[in-house]
Amino acid sequence: MKFFIDTANLEQIKEAQDLGVLDGVTTNPSLMAKEGIGGEENILKHYKDICDIVDGDVSAEVISTDYEGMIVEGEKLASLHPQIVVKVPVIKEGIKAIKYFSSKGIKTNCTLVFSVGQALLAAKAGATYVSPFIGRLDDNSTDGVQLIEQIVDMFEMYEFETQVLAASIRNTMHIIKCVEAGADVATCPLSAIEGLLNHPLTDIGLAQFLSDFKKVNG
Ligand code: E4P
Repeated sequence: MKFFIDTANLEQIKEAQDLGVLDGVTTNPSLMAKEGIGGEENILKHYKDICDIVDGDVSAEVISTDYEGMIVEGEKLASLHPQIVVKVPVIKEGIKAIKYFSSKGIKTNCTLVFSVGQALLAAKAGATYVSPFIGRLDDNSTDGVQLIEQIVDMFEMYEFETQVLAASIRNTMHIIKCVEAGADVATCPLSAIEGLLNHPLTDIGLAQFLSDFKKVNG
């Protein structure tokens, strides 16, 4: 399973990249706003800066909600850097835009997916990734991981090439559940990725090894 980091924070992206396990980055307008990145020039520069840090795909989301606007915006984003993936919401105009981008060889990430039907339309339009938001489903008393399982099964059954990108991950257990569900990618906060390292027996075992070593080596 690939790991993307779900942030527009350059320090965190660098930290995850330095860990050596990062496969890409996802951003959204809220994450960009959180970093105070506004104005077209700054936004485009920030995406380029992210691409310079990581080797993999970097999702950059369109703001337009009409077909023509999405195409203009998406083409501009895609021309920025070969690693850019155009992130498009799963609305009617978005599905048409994904179809267009797919025909032009531009990678897409279909976002705000909350149902199997939405994922089906995105895959049929040729999306590179679909992003089911598991945390937001859990927040609404619906099992987000179950949706990942359903979409993974559907894509396998019909041999869609679209990858399931589990998004809105809130904690380390979400990552483990996504592994079990067969998600192709999990986009996570850095804290959730680092949480995978945590185990008290590792800490106890390491302390013991070091103390035994000291006994005979001073
Ligand atoms: C990433 O592609 C999504 O935009 C993001 O994971 C949403 O996460 P949130 O529900 O924590 O805002």
